[in-house]
Amino acid sequence: MGGPDTLLAKLKRRIARTGAITLAHYMEACLSDVEFGYYATRDPFGAEGDFITAPEISQIFGELIGLWCVSVWRDMGCPSPLRLVELGPGRGALMADALRAAKLVPEFIQAAKIHLVETSPVLRGVQAKNLQACAIQPVWHDRLGDVPGGAAIVIANEFLDALPVRQFERREGAWFERCVGVSEAGDLAFCTASSPLETPDILPQGLRIGAKDGDIAEIRPGAEALVEDLARRAKHHPLAALVIDYGHGTSAPGETLQAVRAHEFSSPLATPGEADLTAHVDFAALGDTAAKNDLQVHGPIRQAKFLNALGLRERCARLMEKAPDKDKELIASGAKRLADAAQMGELFKVMALTSEGLTPPPFAECL
Ligand SMILES: C[S@@+](CC[C@H](N)C(=O)[O-])C[C@H]1O[C@@H](n2cnc3c(N)ncnc32)[C@H](O)[C@@H]1O
Repeated sequence: MGGPDTLLAKLKRRIARTGAITLAHYMEACLSDVEFGYYATRDPFGAEGDFITAPEISQIFGELIGLWCVSVWRDMGCPSPLRLVELGPGRGALMADALRAAKLVPEFIQAAKIHLVETSPVLRGVQAKNLQACAIQPVWHDRLGDVPGGAAIVIANEFLDALPVRQFERREGAWFERCVGVSEAGDLAFCTASSPLETPDILPQGLRIGAKDGDIAEIRPGAEALVEDLARRAKHHPLAALVIDYGHGTSAPGETLQAVRAHEFSSPLATPGEADLTAHVDFAALGDTAAKNDLQVHGPIRQAKFLNALGLRERCARLMEKAPDKDKELIASGAKRLADAAQMGELFKVMALTSEGLTPPPFAECL
């Protein structure tokens, strides 16, 4: 009573007013609440922060993606302008490295307009600073729908995992939505909706067929909306979207919600707004939605396969050759972490969604 307001207190007031809220609403508040949301209030990256992502681990990641963009742009017939869009650019490292590599092709740099889709004001500030020296200056948007039309390449690294998920628990043959309420002791607690889901066909077939009581089905409405948005753009202009994230290639029951704080897993309900909340990406469901919307689906393939095919080892060797001795170990361990099966190489997958007639590298060789 009388202390500073917190997201926990705000959520409890909301639950007292409306009853238990869905897990998706809880996740959305934790990540994006304007006053207390995790991304809205901080820069969480790096050794000092909560987690580290591929572009922060090694510059090679963004460089290879920059060259991938040039190759796809050529395949599109070198359109100008090209909307080069990044969804959830974090600290802007991927885009900075991509643009530095793409400078090898000045016509690409002349054609590209940079669009960053970012909701966090704090991270927009960090991105502006880190991209200050780049040849092209970015424009920011709250959503992909606000990016002007035209030929587009869209990059989403660890973006989809941050979009809220809905979860449903199977009981006596019906699906009940998982929610967050307040226990008798006054703590946040998981519960389920009192009435079953009336439209079970919103769950992917792969989750419904053969489902047993006790199974959990997880879906991500924001990813579906994003794919529909991409498909709308692809109807009128060449489009290629590159999605990189941790997740599974086949839809399977089970819950994957996780909270990470200071590089450790924690309970998703323990510190709302103070931990990163994510869930794995269901690439099978993403691909199905894309195909239903007439997008071409390439992959998913393992991140190791994607990066190795684009020249991870060769680029690493070249960087090591030129680097002072003191930096060599860091360069080698960074590149290894991206592709090592026990680290990011297997769990992280890569999928490309394109308009008709495009087969981006290295998917053609991976068929
Ligand atoms: C895990 S970080 C990934 C950062 C970056 N792509 C990287 O690889 O370092 C998620 C990013 O998405 C942003 N974000 C989260 N939800 C968003 C939303 N609904 N719309 C736009 N950006 C969002 C966050 O602010 C952050 O920049």
